[in-house]
Amino acid sequence: MNSLFLFWREAIANPLMTGAVGPSSPSVAKSMAAPLTRKKGPAKVLEVGPGTGAVTEAILEHLGPEDSLDLCELNPKFASWLRMKFGTPRSGWPTIRVLEGDFLQLAPGPYDFVISSVPCSNLQPDQVRSLLGGLVERVTADGTLSCLHYRGQGLRSRLAVGPERHRLRQVLTIISGFNRRHGVAKDTVWLSIPPAEIHYLRREPRPAAPAARPRQLFPWRR
Ligand SMILES: C[S@@+](CC[C@H](N)C(=O)[O-])C[C@H]1O[C@@H](n2cnc3c(N)ncnc32)[C@H](O)[C@@H]1O
Repeated sequence: MNSLFLFWREAIANPLMTGAVGPSSPSVAKSMAAPLTRKKGPAKVLEVGPGTGAVTEAILEHLGPEDSLDLCELNPKFASWLRMKFGTPRSGWPTIRVLEGDFLQLAPGPYDFVISSVPCSNLQPDQVRSLLGGLVERVTADGTLSCLHYRGQGLRSRLAVGPERHRLRQVLTIISGFNRRHGVAKDTVWLSIPPAEIHYLRREPRPAAPAARPRQLFPWRR
C-alpha cells in the first residue's frame, strides 16, 4: 500500500482525528522542521501526529545519531506504518521511537523541539485548550514548538451555523490567544491544500504589552 492511499483511507474513516485532506506537502514539511536548523548539540525532538511521515522525512534531514526523535501517533494504522518506515535503525539516523497513542499520556518530555501536525479546528474548545497547553508544556525553556494550522477557518466559521459556528468561534479565539501569548514567528505556506500557517512558539508567555495609558481629555493639564 502507498502512503497516499493509506492517508486517504484513514482520513475518510476518521475525519475528525485525521483533520486533513492529504499528507503535508513538502513545503509544509520543510517549514515545520525549520527551527531544527538552529539546533546546537544533541537534541530531543517530539513529532506529534506524524501520520504517514511526510514531516518526519523533513525532520530527519536535520538530525543525526546524537539526537533522539519520538514519533507519537494516535491512529494505530499510521503507527504501524511509521514502525515499518522508521522503526529499523539506519546509519546516520537518530534514535527513533514510535509511540502509539495520545502524546498527552505517552510523551511527557521535555523536548528541545516539538513539531505538531494535530488539527485543532475540529476539536471541542476544552480539547483544544488541553492540546495546546500540553504541547507548549513539553518544550524546554529555550526550545521551540512548531504548530500547523490550516488557513480559511475564519471563513469556515462565518459559513457555519448554530452550535458548530459557536464551537468554531470559541476554538479560533483559543488558538489566536495562544499564538499571541506564546508565538514568536509565523510562516504562511501557499503550496498546500488548503494553504497552511506554521506558528513557532516558546514555552514562556510573552510579557504582556504595557497597558495603554488612558487618553487624556486635557493633555496640557498634568
Ligand atoms: C493532519 S494529520 C498528520 C499529517 C502528517 N503530517 C502527514 O503528512 O501524514 C494529524 C495526525 O495527528 C494525529 N493525532 C491527533 N490527535 C493526536 C494526539 N492527541 N496524539 C498523537 N497524535 C494525534 C492523527 O491521528 C493524525 O494522523
